[in-house]
This record gives sequence, structure tokens and C-alpha cells, in this order.
Amino acid sequence: MAAPHSPKHRCLAVCAPGLEELTAGELAGLGIGFGRRIAGGVIFRASTRQLYAANLWSRTATRVLVRVGSFQATTFASLEERAREIEWHNWIGSDAVPTFRVSATKSRLYHTGAIAERLERVAGGSRGGGVSESDRTQGFVVRVNHDKVTISVNSSGAPLYQRGWRGPQGKAPVRETLAAAMLLAAGWDGTQPLVDPMCGSGTIPIEAALIARGLAPGWQRSFAFGDWPSFEPGTWASVAADAAKAARPGLEVPILASDRDAGAVDATAINAERAGVVDSISVLRRSLSEVHRPGVEPGWLITNPPYGKRASGATDLRNLYARLGQVAKRELEGWSVGLLVADRNLAGHAGLPFEERLHTTNGGLDVCFLTTKIRRSPPAA
Ligand SMILES: C[S@@+](CC[C@H](N)C(=O)[O-])C[C@H]1O[C@@H](n2cnc3c(N)ncnc32)[C@H](O)[C@@H]1O
Repeated sequence: MAAPHSPKHRCLAVCAPGLEELTAGELAGLGIGFGRRIAGGVIFRASTRQLYAANLWSRTATRVLVRVGSFQATTFASLEERAREIEWHNWIGSDAVPTFRVSATKSRLYHTGAIAERLERVAGGSRGGGVSESDRTQGFVVRVNHDKVTISVNSSGAPLYQRGWRGPQGKAPVRETLAAAMLLAAGWDGTQPLVDPMCGSGTIPIEAALIARGLAPGWQRSFAFGDWPSFEPGTWASVAADAAKAARPGLEVPILASDRDAGAVDATAINAERAGVVDSISVLRRSLSEVHRPGVEPGWLITNPPYGKRASGATDLRNLYARLGQVAKRELEGWSVGLLVADRNLAGHAGLPFEERLHTTNGGLDVCFLTTKIRRSPPAA
């Protein structure tokens, strides 16, 4: 039972495992208190305004779910009866089709397909019409655990890492949410120079430019809540107006994106243009060994070198990491370095004393984000 004045929505911000602290920190920054971390997410209560803002502003969450019903059910009849009490008309427009993703553990109702079918019938039937011809869907997530059924509506729609700017994919792009998580975990806030010398399709520099410019990660996309019959246009307009006010036009620090591959450089330029940050990123074609310190201010080199499985050969890759270490020591004294890697042993070839900041997954692969500071060499005696 909610306390009398607690915000009305019971929400779960789903994130990749390992990013929970960062997601909770982002929610706290939006004035959302008491985010409780669970594996792969943060549970919180939100007003409608905060729910909209969480979708627009979270750089690390994958989606935001809102609980719409929770009850015990051990038979299909009781499932349907209790499901009829849910106010589906708040979440499903007359031209939208409800879809259900169900998981069931240790429960008498275990046939996930049959559970989804019953709920589709109840929720679809509550709209009054027959089956809609529309392509528009409204997703629901259902968890049945020890006979307790919890139903949540997906307020985000497409995953939040689909910011709306990605055109060219590049070879092995890092997810936008993970690129942002690396920057946040590093404590990079847009006031220091940033270099990504293996930028691929540009995800890290583009997410960096969005942070530095105060741009909401979701400013170019729409969200499922915008199609809900209970949508509050005035509340959304006010959230969007605040986001427009938060945006800064230019940057005072350089963000440098480079790659030896011409296709990657083109992809970065196109994606930066699409993201509205092309003026904030210098994109150039060069190999890692040509990296030079940009200016005198210390900054961050943050990059995602090729992973073992996708490289041409293990020796090449060991050499690449060794070269990265040499370049960092030669050019970036006083700077910090952050690498997203799938293989810590490989990172060892850089010869730098890395610490692990994040451990998570990217495209199903276990990865960690390692950071270190390049010490200033002692003056010659
Ligand atoms: C895993 S991808 C980076 C993906 C990128 N983070 C993204 O989101 O699209 C690694 C990149 O390193 C580049 N690369 C490999 N060896 C390089 C070298 N010696 N100098 C510069 N770039 C290199 C590849 O061309 C590739 O684009």
C-alpha cells in the first residue's frame, strides 16, 4: 500500500547488470528518492512528471516499467478475473494492440504462452473493439513467481538505448547506455578533453557530447507513454521545456574521435550530425599510434578497442593493446585512460595499472570497464 503522499507510480528502471548504481544515481539527480537497487534494475516511486523525466533523461536505463497490477492466481479463471480489475484503458489506446512478455517460476500457472493469451484477451477485450489492424503495440511485462502475478506496462516503448540518432552501425558498436555508463563511471562531466582513438561508429564521443551539451539522451525520440490514453500533454510539455532550457549551445573542451578505418570515420560523422552534436566533435582518420595530446589540459582517453573474438588474430590484438599503453605513456601524462574490454589479460598488455570500475554485458558478452591514471614521470635527476 502506498503511503498517502507517496508518488503514484511504482516503477522499475531496467538496466544492464552492473549499471544499477549509476541508474540509481541518475534517478536521484532527477529528484526521485529512495531508488532500491535489485539485480538489473532500480525500483522507485515516481509522479507522472518524474516518470516522463526518467525516460527522457536516463542515459543508462534500458526501459522504465510501471506496475499496473499485482495479485495471487493459481488458475486461469482467477488470472482472468483479477486481470479484469486492471484499468487497461489508462495504458492501451483504441488503435493499439497489447502484447505480453511473460516469465513464470515456481508457480502453478507456468505455461507462459497460455498466460499471455488470456491476458491479451482480457486487455484487448477491455478496449471494446475487435482485433485492431494497427501495427502499434503496447508492451506489458508479466512476472509470475510463487503464484504471485505482477503486471507492468512498458512506459518507454523501444529500448532507451535507441536514442533516435543511430544511422550507420559500424562493426561492433557499444550500446549507447553502456557508452554513457562508462563516461559517468569515469566521472567525466564535459569539463575535460576527451579522446576516443578507436571510435568505430562514434557512440562514446556522441554520448560524451550529449552529456557536455546538457542534452537529454532521449530528446529526439518518442516514448510509449505518449500514446497512453492517460498521457498528460501539459506535464510532458513542461518536462520537455525544462530539457530545452538545460541544453548548452557549445563546448569549451575538445572531444576528439578518430579511427584508422575510413568507414568508421564516415559513420561517426553521420551519427554525430544525426545526434545534433556534429559541431562538438572533431572527427579524423588516423591510427592509434598517431594520437597526440590535444592541448595542455589533462583529460580522458576512453575507448572500446576490438574484442578478441572479432579481431584478425591474437598477436595483432596483443600488439594493439601494447601500442595503446605506449601512446598513453608517451602522450598523455597526467591524463586518465578508460577501456571497455572483454578480456582482462589482453588489457594487461597495455602495461598500465588498471582498476575495474564496471562489470556488465554488451551484446551478450561479459565486459568490464577499466581505468587508470597516467602518472607524471619524475623529473630527471
Ligand atoms: C570495437 S570497435 C569500436 C566500436 C565503437 N565504440 C562503437 O560504438 O561503434 C573498435 C574500432 O577500433 C578500430 N581500430 C582497430 N585498430 C586500430 C588502430 N590501430 N588505430 C585506430 N583504430 C583502430 C577499428 O577500426 C574499430 O572501428
